[in-house]
Amino acid sequence: MPGVFDYLVNTVVHVQVEGKSERFTSRVIAVSGLELTVTTPGNERRHIWPRPGTALLLFTRRYEPDGTENLEDGVRCEVVRQILKPTPGLVLCLDGNQPLVRLAPLERAVRTIAVTSGKGGTGKSVLAVNLALALASLGERVTLVDCDLGTGNVAGLFGVQPERNLTDLLEGRASVDEIALCVPGGVSLVPGGTGDPSLFNLSPWKFAHLLSALAAVEERTSFVVVDTSPGISQSVANLLLACDEVIMVTTIEPPSVIDSYALVKLIAAQERRPRVWLVLNRAAQPEVEGRIVRQVVRTASELLGFEVQVLGLVREDDGVHRSVVTGRPLLLDHPIGPAAQDIRELARRLITSRGGKAWSSGTR
Ligand SMILES: Nc1ncnc2c1ncn2[C@@H]1O[C@H](COP(=O)(O)OP(=O)(O)O)[C@@H](O)[C@H]1O
Ligand SMILES: [Mg+2]
Repeated sequence: MPGVFDYLVNTVVHVQVEGKSERFTSRVIAVSGLELTVTTPGNERRHIWPRPGTALLLFTRRYEPDGTENLEDGVRCEVVRQILKPTPGLVLCLDGNQPLVRLAPLERAVRTIAVTSGKGGTGKSVLAVNLALALASLGERVTLVDCDLGTGNVAGLFGVQPERNLTDLLEGRASVDEIALCVPGGVSLVPGGTGDPSLFNLSPWKFAHLLSALAAVEERTSFVVVDTSPGISQSVANLLLACDEVIMVTTIEPPSVIDSYALVKLIAAQERRPRVWLVLNRAAQPEVEGRIVRQVVRTASELLGFEVQVLGLVREDDGVHRSVVTGRPLLLDHPIGPAAQDIRELARRLITSRGGKAWSSGTR
């Protein structure tokens, strides 16, 4: 299967003209919008300078969960144009019709985490914002991306009204640097568009590509936290499959649990899938509800042959509603309340769970 591809700047890629066998080495020098710029491909004997329209295969080193390397997955792309500056090279457009795809593991420092849910209103955006802040307060570099194009309100939760957003990026009107904002708490925010469907048509690999471009906005980004639309649409599924990890936010109400299960089932059916965490939000009786959720998760994991891990719970807290109304995130406004404490604990667990397991494609 054409596979996992690391689009980060400075990654070495191996280039082969389709139909030929010789391979050349090249380095990624820019990732912009949905294009990839690489240095002129060469090997010990010569360099090549393929014309626009030439079909190429790109190979990158893939790391399997057991740590072995694999160079065999070729990704199709086409030369868009040749460039001379800043370094002689090629602008390539990757072929979106292949069943990709995510970024390569171990070597990359960035963890991409989608916050999602089967049902709307479970607290995704509140969690995404405050988790990003909690990670930042623990010393991580965080980029927060609002990929909920329908009802996205992440900027609103920070009390800002950005002039440009993700839609401008996707439609080529603005660059990543132009849309990213530095918000209180030291987080880089990429605001979502409102209601433009263009984002919804991206394949997993295009999402993966987009997310790495967004990660590059902040030097040394270590976490990209992605807020998503709720529900089980193909576009959300593609976005989730482009991420390393997914946090499924649920409340204890049966409809929310059932919808979460349906979404996990969809992920579990994929060949390459992200690690899935469950967060129980709005817990009123943490002990009882925590027990129920752990039991449900155990049963679901057995049924699906796919392990979901409970990351933890966030207690019901009036401070959350107040923070939403005032446009001051909970962790900045009400940092000692129960929900803020719980979210900080979730962030600590995420950081200490760093271990490369997220990439396993089998049962975990
Ligand atoms: N832990 C919590 N305690 C109390 N209220 C909460 C909590 N989490 C979320 N809420 C409430 O739920 C509302 C919806 O949250 P939001 O994050 O916007 O949901 P989603 O993004 O999933 O649609 C918030 O405005 C807030 O009033
Ligand atoms: Mg939301």
